[in-house]
This record gives sequence, structure tokens and C-alpha cells, in this order.
Amino acid sequence: MDMNIKKSAGLRGELVIPGDKSISHRAIMFGALADGTTEITNFLQGADCLSTISCFQTMRVTIENGNDRVLIHGVGLHGLQTPEKMLDVGNSGTTTRLISGILAGQSFTSTLNGDASIQKRPMKRIIDPLTQMGANIHSLNNNSCAPLEIRGGNLHGIAYQSPVASAQVKSCVLLAGLYADGTTSVTEPVLSRNHTELMLSGFGAQVTSVGTTATINPEPELHGQQIAVPGDISSAAYWIAAALAVPNSELVLQNVGINPTRDGILRVVESMGADITRENVHTVSGELVCDLIVRSSTLHGTTVSGELIPTLIDEIPVIAVLACFADGETVIKDAQELKVKESNRIDTVVEGLLAMGADATATDDGMIIRGGRTLHGATIDSHLDHRIAMSFAVAGLMCDTPTTILNADSVVISYPDFYESLKKISV
Ligand code: S3P
Repeated sequence: MDMNIKKSAGLRGELVIPGDKSISHRAIMFGALADGTTEITNFLQGADCLSTISCFQTMRVTIENGNDRVLIHGVGLHGLQTPEKMLDVGNSGTTTRLISGILAGQSFTSTLNGDASIQKRPMKRIIDPLTQMGANIHSLNNNSCAPLEIRGGNLHGIAYQSPVASAQVKSCVLLAGLYADGTTSVTEPVLSRNHTELMLSGFGAQVTSVGTTATINPEPELHGQQIAVPGDISSAAYWIAAALAVPNSELVLQNVGINPTRDGILRVVESMGADITRENVHTVSGELVCDLIVRSSTLHGTTVSGELIPTLIDEIPVIAVLACFADGETVIKDAQELKVKESNRIDTVVEGLLAMGADATATDDGMIIRGGRTLHGATIDSHLDHRIAMSFAVAGLMCDTPTTILNADSVVISYPDFYESLKKISV
């Protein structure tokens, strides 16, 4: 599907932000491994999270996906059944890496595979620690990518120094640690999102975090929980950027998760001069949540680097778009991880911005954007990357001529109602 986007005269109104993708995945996985029933509300009905549901159903976990709640009938830590077919992870890196940690602890052999994009995403980062723990993982194409065959069982606790700040790697190793013969810890170069640590503790696991090290004890009793999923700040990010850059805008974004390991975009736009306020700050299922009020603002460039990067890694494409409407230069660095997302997001972002007439340069670990030019509508291929589709839809709202997004339906991965929401808030 293609989508045409026209210059916006203003964005106004209120939006309830759909559930957080990372938290929705974890709620399914931990609910499946718990004893008793887990009830999830505001679950993200995005294609990635549906892939997680289908993988656990393939291992005979009963999951009822109703309209406003998901019920998981947990089978306990050792209750998963041998899958009779390949586990299909679709487009989802989170499903692939987290489920691999769980599969490494099972007494059966399983295989998993996903779409063309997933078959290019690096899996050495999880194969290495899981192999150190004693699992036997075979990349069936011998390229350290999916499809993977995972022969689990008899894992040892390890103290793993991860070379990358990745919550998927950290979570994978911690989940394998549930099945190890001793304590498992993961130390990251920079702290990544900590939803696994928070939610697993809530289910009854013994997880501690000190600095950038998370530690878990094996064989906990996990108990079913009620989880209210906060709105996804990575989805709110598109409206934050759009409301700041489109004149005559004021948006209320309800129920946005602002966990400090995820809120980097707020810190960045505040440093650029954004008029954005947090109201009704409270905690839901162990996660900090608030409503955001965002108004059109005059922005200036900034530097985004270092410890901030993991707190906004998925928001960089739309931050780059926003930087085109800020005075001066914005430098994004230390973000090499962008190259191994659903697309190479350094390339896909800079290519799209150049097509619109922006002043943008790709670097080895990020990009440099000089703001202030008028952007022109262009035909932008999403490269089947949901965040590229949405970031350039936002850019299109500020272009002087219409923009066409090709493969625009890739938004189903994380924000199925994105275009309907855009229509709702357009004046
Ligand atoms: C995620 C972690 C991040 C992020 C992804 C979701 C998670 O990936 O980009 O969208 O749910 O743990 P990395 O762990 O590869 O940084």
C-alpha cells in the first residue's frame, strides 16, 4: 500500500498512545512461563507482538486475544511443549532474541525463522553468550543469522560482558539465566531499557540491577500478573516531532511510558527548545507513565550521543526529521546500532532526507543534519521498515508539496492505527 501525505495546517487534539511494543512482548513471554493466568490490558496488537503470541501458541500455551485484554494461561517455567513446526518470528528482532534465551533452557530442540529482514539481523550477539552458557545453536545458513536451530538444556550461569548496549541481548541472557545452574549476570557498556528486569521482578524472579549490570537467580516461581501496558513512547515520538514542527499545533498524548531508560527523546527535544510538559505522572505495573502536552516550537540543533543513544535508539529516524526544522546543526553519533535495525537506518534516513532536499550527511556512527531548508515532497520507500514509514509521513506534513510513502503499511509492525490517528488530529 502507498500513502499520500500533504502539508499540514496544524495538528490538534488528544491521542491515546497504543501499548508499548517491548513491554507487550515481555508480558506474553513471562506470562507464558508463569504459573496461573496473566491478564494484559492495552496490549499492542502490532504484527511483532502477534508473532510472539503465535510462537508461544506453537509451544501449546493457551492465549486468548480479546479486543481489550489478552489472557495467558501460564504453563510454568518447565511447561512449554516441543514445537511441531518452525517458530515464526515474522519481522520481530525482540521475539527472536528473547525467545532464543528461553529456548536455550528447554530440554527440546526447536527451530525459528522469520522474514527476509530478520534473516539479515545479527544473531551472533546472542549465539555467543548462549553458547557460553552451554546451549547448542546452529545458524542454518551458516551466517550467524536466522533460521536458527536451538538445542537447549543444562545451562551454566555466566557473568557476561556484552559488547553492545542491547536490551534484547541482555534480556536473552537473563531469560536463559532462569534455567541455569547458578547466578547469571549481564554487564552492558551503557544501560539499555530495563523492562525485563522490572517486569520479571514483578512476576517473582530475583533480579537485581547495579549500574549497568543486571543479575538473575535461576528457577524462580513466577506467578501470573495483571499487566497494564503503558503507551509506547516510540510511537508517541512521531506526534511529538510533528506537533513541535508543524505550526499551529497542540497535542495531548495520553498514557505515555516515560521509563528513564526510554525517555531520551524528551530530553533531546527539551534541549532543542521544545514546549512540552508532562502531566499526571504516575506508575502503572512498575513503569512510569504520564500525559504529554506538546505545542509548536522554535527549535535549535543539538548533539545526541553517548549514554543517551540506547534511551532513544528507535526514535532517531524521527529526531533526524525534526532536526531539519531546527536552526543550526544536529549531530547524532555513537549510534552504529542503527545499521542493524529493520533497515540500515543511517542509510534509509539520510537517503529519504536528501530526496526531500534536506542538508544531511551520513557518518559511520550516525548523521549530521543542518536545519533550515524548505523540504519538498518526495516518493519515499519505507524499505518495509515501520519506523521509516512513520518518520517520513511526519516529514511529509512539513513539505511544500505532497509526499508518497511506498510500502506504507509496514506501520502494522508497531502502530496499526497510525494513519487513522494522523487523520484524527489533522485540522
Ligand atoms: C528492544 C530493544 C531495542 C529496540 C527494539 C526493542 C527490546 O533493540 O531497538 O525496538 O524490546 O528489547 P536492541 O536491544 O537491539 O538495542
